[in-house]
Formats: sequence, C-alpha cells, structure tokens
Amino acid sequence: MYYVNEGSLKLSVIEPKNTRLSKKDLVFYNPAAKISRELTLAFLKSVKVKDFLDLLSASGAMGLRIAKELPIKVLLNDANPEAVKLIKKNINLNKIKNAEVVNKSANKLLKETKKFDYIDIDPFGPPVPFLDLAVQKVSKYLGVTSTDTSALSGTYPKACLRKYKSVPLKNEFMHETGIRILIKRVQDFGIKHNIALEPVFSFHFERYSRVFFKVTRNIEKIRQNLGYVCYCNECLWRKSSKIRKKSCPNCKGKLNYAGKLWIGTIWDNKIIDKMLEQGISYGVRKLLKKIKEEAKINTVGFYDLHTISKKYKKETVPKIEKVIENIKKKGFKASRTHFSPTGIRTNARINVLSAK
Ligand SMILES: C[S@@+](CC[C@H](N)C(=O)[O-])C[C@H]1O[C@@H](n2cnc3c(N)ncnc32)[C@H](O)[C@@H]1O
Ligand SMILES: [Zn+2]
Repeated sequence: MYYVNEGSLKLSVIEPKNTRLSKKDLVFYNPAAKISRELTLAFLKSVKVKDFLDLLSASGAMGLRIAKELPIKVLLNDANPEAVKLIKKNINLNKIKNAEVVNKSANKLLKETKKFDYIDIDPFGPPVPFLDLAVQKVSKYLGVTSTDTSALSGTYPKACLRKYKSVPLKNEFMHETGIRILIKRVQDFGIKHNIALEPVFSFHFERYSRVFFKVTRNIEKIRQNLGYVCYCNECLWRKSSKIRKKSCPNCKGKLNYAGKLWIGTIWDNKIIDKMLEQGISYGVRKLLKKIKEEAKINTVGFYDLHTISKKYKKETVPKIEKVIENIKKKGFKASRTHFSPTGIRTNARINVLSAK
C-alpha cells in the first residue's frame, strides 16, 4: 500500500505485482491513465452535468477526483470488494461528502439504477459488455475507454470483427481507425435503443483510446456518418465514404478498407476551447492544443512523413514543420496530429504530398 497525489486528490493505492499492469492486479491504479483522468475532469468542467457514475472505479482515481473538484454527485462502483474498501478509505482520506460507493457487478447496477447525466466506462480491455445497458441509463454524456487497442488497430483483425463487428486496418493511422470503430460500436447500441450518440471529444494515448459522446435525438445524423475508409497500399491514396470502393482512382491498385466506422468529426471545437480554459497541467494543455489544430481539418486518417518518404523514395526525410508549411502554401489545410509524432493531417491528396 502506498500514496499518490493526483491534482487535489490524495490516493491510497495497492502496489501492482508487475511493472506491466494486468487484470490480476488486486486493485488497478494506472499512473499512465493520469492524462485520461485529467482530460475527463477538463471535459466535465466544460459541460453541464449534475451527477456522475464511475461504473468501474478501481481505486476511485477518476470518480473521486471529479467529486473533489466539482460540486456534483458521484456514484462509484466496483465488483471487487477490495476496491470498494480502498475507495471508502480514499473518501475518508480526502473528506469527500458528495460521493457514494457500491460493490456490484456493473451490469447489475446498470439494470437497477436511475439515469445519470454522465456515465464513465473505463474497463481493462473492451467496453462492449457494458454498452447495451449503459446507453439506456445515460441522459447527457457517456465516456468510454478501450485499452483493447491491438484488436482495434488491426493486430488481431478477427478479434476486432468479433468484438467490434468491424474490419480494422493496420497502417499509419490505425489508432484513429480504431477509435472510429469503437465509436461505431457504441453507436450500434444507441441505435438499437433509439438513442443518438455523437462523439464530441476523442483521444488516443499510449494504449488508451477514449471517446466522450453527447446524447442527442439525431439518429439520422449518426446513420449518415457510418461508412468505410478505403486505402491504397501502393500509392497511399485514401478516402472515406458511405460505400466501399474497390480500385484506387490514383494508381488503379486494389484498395484495402476498414469499417464500418464513424466517418464524421470526432471533436466538437467549442468543447475543446472550453477545455482549454480550465486549469490543466502543461502536458495536457500541449496535447489539447495539438488536438485543437487537427480538429479544424475534417479528414478520416492522416499521412505519415516516413511512409511517404519511403514510398516515394525521397532521399532525405524533410522536417515535418516544413512539409506542413509547404502544404499550406499550396492552399490546403495542414497540421500535426496527436495520434502520431510523424503524422500530418491535411485535406490535400497524396499527389500533393508526393510531389518533388
Ligand atoms: C481499468 S480499472 C478502472 C480504472 C479506474 N477508472 C481509474 O481511473 O483508475 C477496471 C475496474 O473494473 C472492475 N471490474 C471489472 N469487471 C467488472 C464488472 N463486471 N463489474 C464491476 N466492476 C468490474 C475491476 O475490478 C477494476 O477495478
Ligand atoms: Zn493507389
């Protein structure tokens, strides 16, 4: 047992058995997820909610931080009695009055409970088993994490198909594709219950993919934005569309694809601006600023500097800032992307990027 500080919260946590955390760790506390928790707090401060359900709480790092910093009611839950003991200890340690904790299996709790303005699903692995009931019990915003990124990004395509009902694509923008597949899977459950779930803020960090959804009534908008991204391995051409194309219009090569997935925007610019107004750490501000820039360019996927240089046999890899500047000079939008340090998001086509 040891203590960690996260923002204004002091947490008692249990030492993991290995340096690489796994399900077997008695009560999961992941320091790498600190960024995710800070972004969640900034998100919550930027929207209006009166209560918060932390469905899978572990040590309570997420829910208790929300309870400590926001005047809203928080319900924490974990199936593991050891986790619940620890959460109770952490509630007392921080003198928190607006949080309660229960010890139930997540789906049992979801079946019995009233609706919450915000529900957070932060599992170890895929969130799919909790989605059907969670979408029915959320009234404003739903936060969903997946740490199942090897399935979503195409290392295990069969697992992706089985769990997320979509074909992944392992290429330079595989983590964005993974997030778009995750979004579609959450929306599947929404559509089933006539609930529209629109992504308003998404990010990928290390092995974490996380999306915040706004509950709306516009099911048609969701349907209109489900489709495929087609990709040419030969020339790096790509395009998202409602229907799958078979051959590359640029080089006539055979196209690969990912989908179905969400082909609409994965960010709401107004929410990003509001998140930037909150008291956030230097690292999270830097990440948010990067996201703010790429969110202005509505594309599915991005290019990778090294992949282009290799494919088009450029003698030296140019500086990324220089490439972005050159694309902008040609009249296109271009920015870095938080998904990859060598990624470029742009509305320019591959013939612009591959030109000498
Ligand atoms: C990844 S951890 C949650 C991390 C936490 N949100 C944080 O920020 O530190 C997942 C937790 O879900 C709990 N859990 C797994 N399956 C569950 C289920 N079916 N019902 C309730 N809790 C469950 C585990 O005991 C574990 O503590
Ligand atoms: Zn091609």
